[in-house]
Amino acid sequence: MFTKLLIAIFLAILYFSEGDCVLNNHKSSCEPKEGDVRLSNSSLPSEGRVEIYHHMQWGSVCDDNWDLSDAQVVCRQLNFQGAKAAVTWGHLGQAHGHIWLDDVECSGQEQQLVSCRSSNWGVHNCNHEEDAGVICDTQNYDSTQSDSIHSLDHSTTLSDDLGKIFDSGTTCDFLIAFQTSTGAKQEDGVPDETMTTICAHKAILMLYPYFNASVGENNITVTVNTTCQSYSTSIIRYLYTRQINVTYSSAMCLHQLASEFGLRKLLEDVGQVISKSLPNDASFYSQVSLYKYAVESKDFVLEENCVQYMAWNFQNLTSSPVWPELPVELLRSLLTRSDLVVADEYFLLQTLEDWITNNGGSLSSEKPADLLRLVRFPMIPAEKLYELETKSLLFSAHRDLYRDSVLKAYQFNVLLYSNLTQLKLVKEIDDYKPRIYTSNTWSIAIDSSKLSSSHQGLNQYNYHYYYGLYSNSIPLSSEKLLHTSLHSIVVCEDNKVTWAANIFKTSNECSREGVHCNSLPAARLTQQNNTLSRNISFDNRILLTCQNRYICQIQAFHSDMAHIDQALVYPCPDDNYIYTFVVRPEFV
Ligand SMILES: *[C@@H]1O[C@H](CO)[C@@H](O)[C@H](O)[C@H]1NC(C)=O
Ligand SMILES: *[C@@H]1O[C@H](CO)[C@@H](O)[C@H](O)[C@H]1NC(C)=O
Ligand SMILES: *[C@@H]1O[C@H](CO)[C@@H](O)[C@H](O)[C@H]1NC(C)=O
Ligand SMILES: *[C@@H]1O[C@H](CO)[C@@H](O)[C@H](O)[C@H]1NC(C)=O
Ligand SMILES: *[C@@H]1O[C@H](CO)[C@@H](O)[C@H](O)[C@H]1NC(C)=O
Ligand SMILES: *[C@@H]1O[C@H](CO)[C@@H](O)[C@H](O)[C@H]1NC(C)=O
Ligand SMILES: *[C@@H]1O[C@H](CO)[C@@H](O)[C@H](O)[C@H]1NC(C)=O
Ligand SMILES: *[C@@H]1O[C@H](CO)[C@@H](O)[C@H](O)[C@H]1NC(C)=O
Ligand SMILES: *[C@@H]1O[C@H](CO)[C@@H](O)[C@H](O)[C@H]1NC(C)=O
Repeated sequence: MFTKLLIAIFLAILYFSEGDCVLNNHKSSCEPKEGDVRLSNSSLPSEGRVEIYHHMQWGSVCDDNWDLSDAQVVCRQLNFQGAKAAVTWGHLGQAHGHIWLDDVECSGQEQQLVSCRSSNWGVHNCNHEEDAGVICDTQNYDSTQSDSIHSLDHSTTLSDDLGKIFDSGTTCDFLIAFQTSTGAKQEDGVPDETMTTICAHKAILMLYPYFNASVGENNITVTVNTTCQSYSTSIIRYLYTRQINVTYSSAMCLHQLASEFGLRKLLEDVGQVISKSLPNDASFYSQVSLYKYAVESKDFVLEENCVQYMAWNFQNLTSSPVWPELPVELLRSLLTRSDLVVADEYFLLQTLEDWITNNGGSLSSEKPADLLRLVRFPMIPAEKLYELETKSLLFSAHRDLYRDSVLKAYQFNVLLYSNLTQLKLVKEIDDYKPRIYTSNTWSIAIDSSKLSSSHQGLNQYNYHYYYGLYSNSIPLSSEKLLHTSLHSIVVCEDNKVTWAANIFKTSNECSREGVHCNSLPAARLTQQNNTLSRNISFDNRILLTCQNRYICQIQAFHSDMAHIDQALVYPCPDDNYIYTFVVRPEFV
């Protein structure tokens, strides 16, 4: 009796927490307004294809330039704390109606998607295969903001009680068998198998379509390997309590079972745990196989984490043993990214040509051109463009493609446009935008392990003697200067800009420079002589390299400052980073 009652309460809570407007007496707050967003094609409220309301109609958003900063804005607009992934290629469903927005470029700080830079309403070059989606971060989700229901969450105690029901095993009516082939054969040649049988409750399993409990099944067999068999109880218990402890060693099994059972939320959260192990393998074998696995198991967050890690550490990836056999789809995803970290675009072209030359035989005929088109020719340093015809491995095989691309790049370098369409393309198309170039033309590094914090070397007396009261003029120990051009194109070559790069490790250093540091460490990159141009703006980045081995974090600057995120995705064993400041000019 007690059991049934608990389950009824449990189901009731689940049911009512699903409805958005169902229980809402103030119907009007559900009527969409211009610029509202919603997520479609998903059973979870926290993820889906993005739709925006315009002219009294919902329409989709195209995924050109769709990235995490855009997803952040959508998720925050929906009162989530932030975004876990920006999903492209209609992976989260496709629509039929209007495509309202394209080329959305949020800085990440906007309150609403409509406040971001984008194409005009309905102007796009997309089809619905390119519908953009998001996966939002559900931590601290404040559902009270989206409607007027104030729900009380006692699920923790309830899940404890449901856990007890599971543990007791009484009145269970559904058998789940986890079957493992031991690899050995019995005497009669039949493969030897071991079995763990767990008895559960239909009433709970009905919540999970996978088990077919609502269509009269009363048992089910799941095939797992020996390692994963040991986690069978904890995952079934999770179905009751929605609580589970995940470790590195259990993560792969739990991920696989979550994928099998269709448990999206568990899948993504376990995927995040797995992602933390990405820096552990210098050979990149495990990152590539994890990527393949993520694609297979449809964990887009894990997939994005893998691709992002490889984009950040692209330079090392190209010299790793997996590079020659990198899966073509992975290579393609990497080449579309603006957060690809590479010395310069010419290096990227050369390594791509090598890769294509190696894999030529196994590729379909249109693939090489498809990949080469993702190279941002206008970003190749002009002096390298001149040599392309003689130095390029593939020039003669793809003569037209190279000729067109190089011509486009030359035109850009001298800002020679035949018409206004071209001028507009320069602002909108990725080909004219930098990736994260780390050659010393555009970047400078500060090694924090070599910084003495607060001038320890200076004797206090001398310090005052030399600098007197003019404390503002004390140069910070970490300051470095970087000289760049205003833009990479030839006509801007003589337009020099000087940058000052600083790392603030203590609040003393911040106050001495008169800067407000929300958190430490913080980085600052300022233009020394304000060389402003109406057309060019800088979208600079700071890179954190851990133990001189891998890039573990990349952040943007806001008003010249970057506060290093304390919750790094890839925690670094020590806090001694190399900070690389990268200047990225683009036309706006
Ligand atoms: C996605 O949602 C649209 C309506 O918003 C619907 O027409 C379409 O069939 C859905 N697609 C999938 C794959 O669920
Ligand atoms: C549940 O039923 C569907 C349709 O009959 C079937 O395809 C699926 O394999 C069943 N699930 C399991 C785990 O047996
Ligand atoms: C499993 O269920 C099927 C029908 O759903 C039934 O025929 C079979 O006897 C059941 N097996 C066990 C061990 O209960
Ligand atoms: C997780 O681990 C903690 C500490 O060991 C334990 O108290 C808790 O019961 C565990 N939770 C689950 C769901 O196993
Ligand atoms: C069992 O499967 C898990 C998850 O796919 C995998 O990580 C593990 O290596 C496998 N173990 C064995 C012994 O094959
Ligand atoms: C990655 O490259 C850097 C230099 O660019 C090198 O110092 C480091 O050892 C490399 N990391 C690995 C894991 O090979
Ligand atoms: C303008 O330039 C673009 C790109 O080169 C070209 O596709 C388009 O046809 C040109 N339009 C006119 C009116 O010349
Ligand atoms: C900016 O400063 C650098 C060196 O301090 C100088 O070479 C350059 O000409 C200056 N640029 C402008 C536009 O004043
Ligand atoms: C730069 O801005 C000016 C005026 O705003 C405009 O006339 C010019 O075409 C722009 N140049 C580029 C390359 O966008």
